[in-house]
Amino acid sequence: MAILEVYRDPSTMEPLLPENIGDLEPMSTQLLEKSHALSASLHPETAKAISTFLRPMNSYYSNLIEGHDTHPIDIEKALKKDFSKDHKNRSLQKEALAHIAVSADLFNKPMNNGFNTYSAKFIKNLHKAFYEKLPKEFQVAINIEGVETPIIPGEFRKCEVQVGKHIAPSWEYLDGFLARYESYYDPNSLSNKSKIRRIIAIASAHHRLAWIHPFSDGNGRVVRLLSDACFLTEGMNTSGLWSMTRGLSRNDASYKTHLSNADLTRWDNYDGRGNLSNKMLKKFCEFYLETAIDQVEYMKKMLDLDAMLKRIHYYTDLMVSKGILKTETRYILEAVFLKGEIPKKEVERVTGKSDKTAKILAESLLNLGLLNVDKTNHLSPYKVNYPISASPLLFPGLYPTGKEMDMMAMLR
Ligand SMILES: Nc1ncnc2c1ncn2[C@@H]1O[C@H](COP(=O)(O)OP(=O)(O)O)[C@@H](O)[C@H]1O
Ligand SMILES: [Mg+2]
Repeated sequence: MAILEVYRDPSTMEPLLPENIGDLEPMSTQLLEKSHALSASLHPETAKAISTFLRPMNSYYSNLIEGHDTHPIDIEKALKKDFSKDHKNRSLQKEALAHIAVSADLFNKPMNNGFNTYSAKFIKNLHKAFYEKLPKEFQVAINIEGVETPIIPGEFRKCEVQVGKHIAPSWEYLDGFLARYESYYDPNSLSNKSKIRRIIAIASAHHRLAWIHPFSDGNGRVVRLLSDACFLTEGMNTSGLWSMTRGLSRNDASYKTHLSNADLTRWDNYDGRGNLSNKMLKKFCEFYLETAIDQVEYMKKMLDLDAMLKRIHYYTDLMVSKGILKTETRYILEAVFLKGEIPKKEVERVTGKSDKTAKILAESLLNLGLLNVDKTNHLSPYKVNYPISASPLLFPGLYPTGKEMDMMAMLR
């Protein structure tokens, strides 16, 4: 193998934040405010149900960026332990489940404010948690010489790698790069006292970890999960109502171009003082923050009360026309969207039906996965729930159009 010009010194990763972050402050503030407003707009139980519903979508898009296109219908089946007979599809289903599980862990065990998500330990743990759940055939990578090498979950690579035109830092020096990464972005460090700066750092750190490319594979999935974790430690998107990954995937070409541009060394003496281009890092951060704001705004529109109620009506009307639901179910769906959960008795009140009929109506929604109930407790209320299959009607546009059309065709 020819001797490669590889980075060995962590200083070659500079700058770690764009030098003129003041220009990015308005976007960062906007993201913070809009994200908080979105979380505040829903009943916490409804927010929880929507976040659970969005988790498979997040996994869908993160794996899609990697070139693994798993049909949302197959993800829904996998969640019900219904695995495909086709080996490749089954592996993709298991990959989706692995991603969903890691992400659920992040959101369900929120980290304390100030937790250092940028630590090598945390990053390795994310990789470990994801990779150890993957089918064996996804636990191998092709190195720069074209040789297949096994991936050990949670371990940094022991070979050189190239991403696009960028040759990542030499594997023997990874610890130094990660140590610098960990201390520079540490939310507890004195220089990171400003929240606005820490939000910009989430964007910047996203690129720099992709640039270090510490694992032989899985860097993309890990860095996107890491971004989710970083927002969580900032108390942002704690209800999981928007997905950075959806935005990155829907702008896939731009995401890859911005990543690759930010790999470049500085152009001239006017391009910052570090080894890497300051201008391009700033552009990456702008792209990242813009994408995040766009996702928050999209979800805000999606969850707007009037718009949501209209879609519930449309959904029930369609299901009534197909003979699957009765008209009155729409009042139950409205009530659980607004209140998160309703006592069983309340179904009689909102539908104006007898105890027996109310039960049948609720049962029809339970069958479609549009309600949830704790079967072990007869006093348990009906909780709001959203199945992937209802996505094209209740949350149109979340998945790509082609996938939504397939889902629509599946409506009985
Ligand atoms: N030019 C680039 N510079 C830095 N990172 C890149 C570049 N192009 C792509 N990436 C990142 O690398 C990821 C692919 O790396 P890989 O280790 O295969 O991760 P995964 O298997 O999760 O996709 C992409 O998802 C993207 O985040
Ligand atoms: Mg890969």
